[in-house]
Amino acid sequence: MPAAEELRAKLNEIREKCLTCKKCSLCETRHNIVFEDGIPNQKLMLIGEAPGFYEDQQGKPFVGKAGQLLDRIFASVGLSRDKDVYICNTLKCRPPDNRNPLPDEKEACWEYLKAQIEIIKPKIILLCGNVAVQSILGNVGGITRIRGNWYKPENAIVDVYGAKMMPIFHPSYLLRNDTREKGGPKWLMWQDIQEIKREYDKL
Ligand code: URA
Ligand code: URA
Repeated sequence: MPAAEELRAKLNEIREKCLTCKKCSLCETRHNIVFEDGIPNQKLMLIGEAPGFYEDQQGKPFVGKAGQLLDRIFASVGLSRDKDVYICNTLKCRPPDNRNPLPDEKEACWEYLKAQIEIIKPKIILLCGNVAVQSILGNVGGITRIRGNWYKPENAIVDVYGAKMMPIFHPSYLLRNDTREKGGPKWLMWQDIQEIKREYDKL
């Protein structure tokens, strides 16, 4: 296993590239690139969608309301971004008005996400929301149907270096669907995070 400093150095190289990236038009409106947060833990990576307003301001993924909910979800099973999880997004720059990423933006940015996966080689990748699912698993259906299932590395349309993957709801979706009813989105998320923790503990 490569030392943490070695991973850090390699990730920094990719981050440097993003800082001056002009491969798509989002470079014209971004305030900061949003490359990563958490630690390059080789057990657990989470891939979200794209930076929002606060992420673009701070240069860190998942720092707004959705991010705070994500932290609470992790905390409910004793996981935290400071010690257990590497967090990044499909896009490194904010789409104006938080619109969905366009195909050419995802394509332009893929180089960076690909490098992050390749450098870290996490054992588990959480695909957070439909955009991340599409990028890694392709058209496997909507998140509501596929969340909570484990996918094998062979199921991915890209090289995930042996990672097993689980699609999970996006926390923004949970914020919009705030019922705690049994069988509702939040309840399902709490089931999923427990299953993730069980697998995490086996590593
Ligand atoms: N939503 C995402 O998908 N990523 C972020 O970093 C913030 C909100
Ligand atoms: N739509 C999304 O994009 N993500 C979710 O998690 C749920 C619905």
